[in-house]
Amino acid sequence: MDAMEAILTRRSVRQYTGAKISEDTIKLLLEAAMSAPSAGNQQPWQIIVIDDRQILNAITEVHPYASMLKQAALGIVICGDLQRETFKGYWVQDCSAATENLLIAARALGLGAVWLGVYPLKDRIKGIGKLLHLPDTVIPLAVVSIGYPAVEQGAVNRFDSRRIHRNRWGSRMF
Ligand SMILES: Cc1cc2nc3c(=O)[nH]c(=O)nc-3n(C[C@H](O)[C@H](O)[C@H](O)COP(=O)(O)O)c2cc1C
Repeated sequence: MDAMEAILTRRSVRQYTGAKISEDTIKLLLEAAMSAPSAGNQQPWQIIVIDDRQILNAITEVHPYASMLKQAALGIVICGDLQRETFKGYWVQDCSAATENLLIAARALGLGAVWLGVYPLKDRIKGIGKLLHLPDTVIPLAVVSIGYPAVEQGAVNRFDSRRIHRNRWGSRMF
């Protein structure tokens, strides 16, 4: 699958077959995440790969919209490491870019994934930080739930010409 197809057909997948994901495939996902752009190339991410069923289940106790993790092969937690920040305040954008790369790579590799938001909600940050023994300077941005898809979500076209402005606000482009 080429890059445009992976981007245009990516959807959140919340039902999985239960099939295991190989270590080589996991490494490809992580390489994709870590290929993201970052402010000043600071690469402020730390990534926790979770395949321990008890921990995956425990996340569902601290995150109210993460029940699919009970069936997922993996959870990947993208965190910002404040000690690696050289350009303050950009870690959220950097780690979001890494998270999106991970989702697109999952699609390209035939996996299904969904972004589960953590930051900026204090109770989720605290709950996941405690569960994963994160230092105070490592902030979880998102958990990505991943498995082989049990459902095929159709692509949706969200292109909206009314939201695009040429040169100045209100001047139509398309
Ligand atoms: C920042 C962020 C937080 C999200 N949090 C959740 C979540 O907690 N649980 C969930 O099931 N989906 C979550 N999603 C997935 C969105 O619901 C989904 O991307 C959106 O409905 C669009 O559908 P699509 O991904 O299939 O295109 C989140 C997505 C983003 C970008």
